[in-house]
Amino acid sequence: MSRTSRARPAPLFTFAIITDTHIRPPGGDESSPFPVNELANARARYAVQAIARHAPAFTIHLGDMVHPLPHLPSYDAAAREALEILSPLGDSLRFVPGNHDIGDKPMAGAPAGAADEESARIYMRHFGPPWYSFDHGGVHFVVMNASLVGSGSALEDEQRAWLEEELARNSGGRILLFSHYPPFIDTADEPTHYDNYEPAGRAWLLRCAEKSGVEAIFSGHVHQFFYNRHAGTALYCLPPTSFTRQDYSELYQIGPASEFGRNDLCKFSYALVDIYPEGHRLRVIPTRGRGLNPGEAITQDDPVAARPAPAPFTVHVRHAWARAFHMPYNGPMEEFGRKRARDDYLLLRLWQMGISRIRTPLADLLDPEYRRRIDDFHAAGIRFTFFCAGMPDAEAWRACREAREMIDAVECVTSTTDLSDLGDALS
Ligand SMILES: [Fe+2]
Ligand SMILES: [Fe+2]
Repeated sequence: MSRTSRARPAPLFTFAIITDTHIRPPGGDESSPFPVNELANARARYAVQAIARHAPAFTIHLGDMVHPLPHLPSYDAAAREALEILSPLGDSLRFVPGNHDIGDKPMAGAPAGAADEESARIYMRHFGPPWYSFDHGGVHFVVMNASLVGSGSALEDEQRAWLEEELARNSGGRILLFSHYPPFIDTADEPTHYDNYEPAGRAWLLRCAEKSGVEAIFSGHVHQFFYNRHAGTALYCLPPTSFTRQDYSELYQIGPASEFGRNDLCKFSYALVDIYPEGHRLRVIPTRGRGLNPGEAITQDDPVAARPAPAPFTVHVRHAWARAFHMPYNGPMEEFGRKRARDDYLLLRLWQMGISRIRTPLADLLDPEYRRRIDDFHAAGIRFTFFCAGMPDAEAWRACREAREMIDAVECVTSTTDLSDLGDALS
């Protein structure tokens, strides 16, 4: 993926992404015990109006349009309400099936029923085909039903054959792929859990993406932001409009927001993707949990989010910005294991503020876990200043040389007046 420079002209076109609206029937239902879920419909109304003001070429809903699962009696009413709330986005709105819309991926201990032919029939009555593709402005858009991956069902076989053919036919062109579940959230070899693909299905999809040169995979489901790369493919996991997941509140180095982290106002967002001739640029626009009642409209004093101006700052990143963390097991989503996850909000906030430079210890460049993320951040448009005490040793200079394309400066903090040993290193 090539991210575009700050000084670029207008994009070829812009499309919008909304995800995890978790809309419920108008009078509510019993599908969630959490008070914040009662705000989902109003929050979706706000996000929809905010998106419509950008006049995107089209909008993609990344799944979990509704909260009740297909086998619940409240599903149909929730789906009708979702279509009503999303209607300001017009006929060009495209749907990606989420596990709340079409059933969970197969997983022992998953809180809901698995996707099957019956749930697909119920889904299609409201939202159309669960997998399909379309073209716009020279880009091929591919939507898949991620709940099927690893199910071993005839439907999975059917989708796999279709997707392989679809990607092969468009190989070499620009392809963007949309999957409710992210293939992974920390590393491509992580064990299976509630928020990723099982290993065989993940390896299959990543192989297909690599072979066909997929530019990016967009996902939702986790209700948090993550950025990963695999070969040349960017993998984005986008935040919701409705509620944050309380299990992820334990990932961050501050106390949880209200409702044990389930109502983290600063994380609610929709996204815009600017398509340029040689790449794309993601803009994640906060909604701050604002909502609208039926019949209400966004007021004029609520400005339309603009593209961030480049900010000439270098941010000192003191915290462990690249380190993954074993999260506590936490029901109902992850009752039986500790998944690894990383706080990627540093990158998101840098993008949102237009900041493209960070300052971090030189030791980070020599740490394999940090080095991988340094490469990822650079691919995402970030440049680095490294600092150290005294003169770097030969190994550190070698690492600097290898990474020189992404380095603004190396700060050697020393009290010595004899810098003669620096001459050899710089040469
Ligand atoms: Fe969701
Ligand atoms: Fe989901």
